[in-house]
Amino acid sequence: MNDFILHTLYFILNFMRILGIETSCDETGVAVFDDKNGLLAHALHSQVKLHAQYGGVVPELASRDHVRKLLPLVKEVLNMAKIEAKDLSAIAYTKGPGLIGALLVGAAFAESLAFSLGIPTVPINHMEAHLLAPLLEENKPEFPFLALLVSGGHTQLVHVAEINNYRIVGESVDDAVGEAFDKVAKILGLSYPGGPLLEKLATKGDSKRFYFPRPMVNRKGLDFSFSGLKTYALNCFNEYIAMKKKFSEGGGTNRTEQNYEQTRADIARAFQDSVTNTLAIKCRRALRQENLKRLVVAGGVSANSALREALNAMAKKEGAEVYYPRIAFCSDNGAMIAYAGYRRFLIGDINMSLMIKVDPRLRL
Ligand code: KG4
Ligand code: ZN
Repeated sequence: MNDFILHTLYFILNFMRILGIETSCDETGVAVFDDKNGLLAHALHSQVKLHAQYGGVVPELASRDHVRKLLPLVKEVLNMAKIEAKDLSAIAYTKGPGLIGALLVGAAFAESLAFSLGIPTVPINHMEAHLLAPLLEENKPEFPFLALLVSGGHTQLVHVAEINNYRIVGESVDDAVGEAFDKVAKILGLSYPGGPLLEKLATKGDSKRFYFPRPMVNRKGLDFSFSGLKTYALNCFNEYIAMKKKFSEGGGTNRTEQNYEQTRADIARAFQDSVTNTLAIKCRRALRQENLKRLVVAGGVSANSALREALNAMAKKEGAEVYYPRIAFCSDNGAMIAYAGYRRFLIGDINMSLMIKVDPRLRL
């Protein structure tokens, strides 16, 4: 059946129930979104424990774990939603960006299942799904809005005019914010994934002890750079360690351990203050430049409370509104893929070709 006829048929029957599958990195996420009742069910399997011993994601292990977990998770979600596979109208899955092996697991599964059911697939850009995630909430933004995407692989400011009308107005020229969080966490001896642990450590930090630079705020434009900030944190920590060593070699009575713990927290605090302040400055600049009054913040780092405080304070002064996904939908999940799939299905962006094609570097 031709795509257009099939799509029209769904509209006439008024039946839209989309299964969403996320396997771009280290989380297997599955959900079902229904046009009448919203999110029917969602479930997530995190691979954190699997990768923790290696200090970061091991791509091959990630792919194998998706293979193990995807089918049971799909069954579980269909059960929770009280529907069967035959009740689905389409299957949405992450096409990219992400790890190629991990993406292929989701794509192959989704395309084969959809083919066997005779329904279309909706390949989804993972970053688009992140920026649409706040639309799953009760307090949701209207179009147009500015989106700040802060994840492990991306830091982007996007002018979102409507679905499928995105213009990147600023992005990181090197490390993503989440990546910088993870690297600084590693420097401070925290385990993977470091972002949430660094946030926790920073709550004990003294904001007045160190002041880290705010990268690229004095330059025109909306781009970011976080790799220098990571090096700044490394140098700051190394200087402290060298001083501590010299002091103890000189036989000084050091208030060592307590001081060491406090220093780690102070560095975490200084780093986080710099990141949140920098992001707030650039968001303010972008809102003014784009003449927008709505800001959407999404991606793993949008779960950070200090970032939320900084952005809320900035927005209040600007007379703007800020929208976030619920904490569970800040990092990778199946619900955002199911929802993005639903929105793309509505505009007829579907695929019936059984083509298993992913793009690890897919751009918005
Ligand atoms: O969106 P996400 O789950 O995956 C990607 O698409 O990359 O983002 C993961 C990133 C990791 O770098 C993680 O450390 C960071 O988000 N993250 C945080 C927090 N929670 C997750 N960073 C800072 N504070 C947090 N509370
Ligand atoms: Zn993500």
